[in-house]
Amino acid sequence: MIPAVPAGTRLLGIAGAPGAGKSTLAGSLGLPIVPMDGFHYADVELVRRGLRDRKGAPETFDAEGYAALLRRVRSGEEGVVAPMFERGLEQPLAGAIPVPATGTVVTEGNYLLLDEPRWRAVRAEIDVVWHVDVDDALRVERLVARHVRFGKTPEAAREWVERVDGANARLVEAARDRADLVVDLSDWTP
Ligand SMILES: Nc1ncnc2c1ncn2[C@@H]1O[C@H](COP(=O)(O)OP(=O)(O)OP(=O)(O)O)[C@@H](O)[C@H]1O
Ligand SMILES: [Mg+2]
Repeated sequence: MIPAVPAGTRLLGIAGAPGAGKSTLAGSLGLPIVPMDGFHYADVELVRRGLRDRKGAPETFDAEGYAALLRRVRSGEEGVVAPMFERGLEQPLAGAIPVPATGTVVTEGNYLLLDEPRWRAVRAEIDVVWHVDVDDALRVERLVARHVRFGKTPEAAREWVERVDGANARLVEAARDRADLVVDLSDWTP
């Protein structure tokens, strides 16, 4: 079952491997969401940095910008508008998600718990972080199906999931012990 959000939480983080169900779980909570994915660098910047073929790895995100936005949310600033990731375009989109100045806000993404300075600064802005877990074969199948739905061939989807998502999943798994709570979604239906 999905645990209750602790009373008084301003920012609840949901971390987990690619395809583990973070966005689905976050969406089911009925709370405003600031997605880490909105802080993907755009392709134009990834090309500049020589990172285009590693899109989705920790260094392909603006972690500093993410921490700064979470700090604004934490401080109760009015009129904060977060970016989102547009899956059709495969690009971030600025100024897309209005964030209320009070109440609980959920933020979800792969790297909230990474033990690296840039990501520790992100974690420091979040009150409580859950790590979501799901059976690995199920996770891989869902991820391949989602890549196919967004236009990859089944072969290209499998290759991407093994090469790129697989490496990222290992980084996320290595950070799971830093979570406040591990939530197993294997038998969960949204
Ligand atoms: N309980 C579930 N039952 C069936 N399908 C699910 C369930 N949870 C998630 N899915 C599907 O699995 C895929 C991955 O889920 P989701 O997008 O929520 O994962 P994610 O952790 O946000 O992935 P990413 O790291 O790539 O953003 C989606 O296509 C989603 O619809
Ligand atoms: Mg997601």
